[in-house]
Amino acid sequence: MTLSPSPVGRSRISGRSGRVAAVAAVAVAGLLAGTASASAGTTAAPASAGATAQALAAPDIPLANVKAHLTQFSSIAAANGGNRAHGRPGYKASIDYVKAKLDAAGFATSLQTFTTSGATGYNLIADWPGGDPNKIVMAGAHLDSVSSGAGINDNGSGSAAVLESALAVSRAQLKPDKHLRFGWWGAEELGLVGSKAYVNSLPSTERAKFAGYLNFDMIGSPNPGYFVYDDDPAIEKTFKDYFAGLGVPTEIETEGDGRSDHASFKNVGIPVGGLFTGASRTKTAAQAQKWGGTAGQAFDRCYHSSCDNTANISDTALDRNSDAVAHALWTLSAGGTTPPPTGDDYENTTPLAIPDAGAAVTSPITVSGRTGNAPATLKVSVNIKHTWRGDVVIDLLAPDGTAYRLKNSSSGDSADNIIETYTVNASSEPANGTWRLRAQDVARQDTGSLTSWKLTF
Ligand code: TRP
Ligand code: ZN
Ligand code: CA
Repeated sequence: MTLSPSPVGRSRISGRSGRVAAVAAVAVAGLLAGTASASAGTTAAPASAGATAQALAAPDIPLANVKAHLTQFSSIAAANGGNRAHGRPGYKASIDYVKAKLDAAGFATSLQTFTTSGATGYNLIADWPGGDPNKIVMAGAHLDSVSSGAGINDNGSGSAAVLESALAVSRAQLKPDKHLRFGWWGAEELGLVGSKAYVNSLPSTERAKFAGYLNFDMIGSPNPGYFVYDDDPAIEKTFKDYFAGLGVPTEIETEGDGRSDHASFKNVGIPVGGLFTGASRTKTAAQAQKWGGTAGQAFDRCYHSSCDNTANISDTALDRNSDAVAHALWTLSAGGTTPPPTGDDYENTTPLAIPDAGAAVTSPITVSGRTGNAPATLKVSVNIKHTWRGDVVIDLLAPDGTAYRLKNSSSGDSADNIIETYTVNASSEPANGTWRLRAQDVARQDTGSLTSWKLTF
């Protein structure tokens, strides 16, 4: 309904129910380029001469090998004051153990050092020779424990599964189309320090080469859930397909997004994904119904405690997740012949308050993995809740800051809400980078908030 503008005041009572939400939080929906056609779990003929887009089936990762690494981490902790924490000798001994295995298997390894809390920290990076150097698929895990225990589930489990998957790549002498890289991070428990140091050390030209980063932190919880990170859609689908093939239901990871090293990569626009079996949160009755285990009990009762030892592991969860690591590496590193399909959506669903007659606010969407410029018909879908939409001015900001006006203010437009798709000729703008929706409420009294917005390429 459109009412005539009244010179004084408003004809309707303005709602003050706009959501108050923190600005921050980037919803990255980057698509992993060219993985859509990878064939999950099928046994293809061995790669012959010429490029193949078909993923070979990943090997079964032997649980016994993964558990043997956990036994070694446990021994290392026992010989070094009971932990493998940053700045303690048990951490460096853990790095040395993993590095020796990889060196013997033909990886090019390097140690990256950093300093935090008054001690030297170490990241271990291992490159599998070959593959397209401009398309990197990386898997990683934090190798440090907290100081209160040996950290066998947190995060010996992820560290061991990534190590054994790397060794499986070597045993298979895999010739992936993309380049495979592996990382073990220091000082995650002190605030993702090692992984932040790593991404900060990468020039933006190097960051742009990442097709994806896969994170594995706590994947053998003794009362496990099967959680998949809800980030890059192609990576997420790869994991979900794997578990669907096993007949194991999954849920989206919600126990603190941003609480592990994938956040460091996501924050610089790299597509991420990963697996998690739960920490201190309690398993519900519904979850126990579908996954087994004990309802009303934490997924990991020994989280960050001295009892996070070799008994604090579900063999079934560790086995399934280790196989999922290998499946994702094989699948995502193969192919690349399919260009990113058109019609890709990138969405930010973090609510954002638009202050009444206040400053402009912006909401980001980071696009990565595309080639060339944005289309002449870039679609910008906007969902704004507002009690007098004429108050609102909206612009799309390209990664270089160029503003495209989507909507002007119009004092007489008293209708509710802006649920609209605008078409923008963005063909002079590179597709990759951080796009922003800028919204400003320019008239007093009625208010609203951005619910979500989406770019369709
Ligand atoms: N990273 C946390 C730790 O090491 C554990 C954790 C909590 C976690 N929430 C998560 C890991 C979500 C992955 C995903 O203490
Ligand atoms: Zn952890
Ligand atoms: Ca207003």
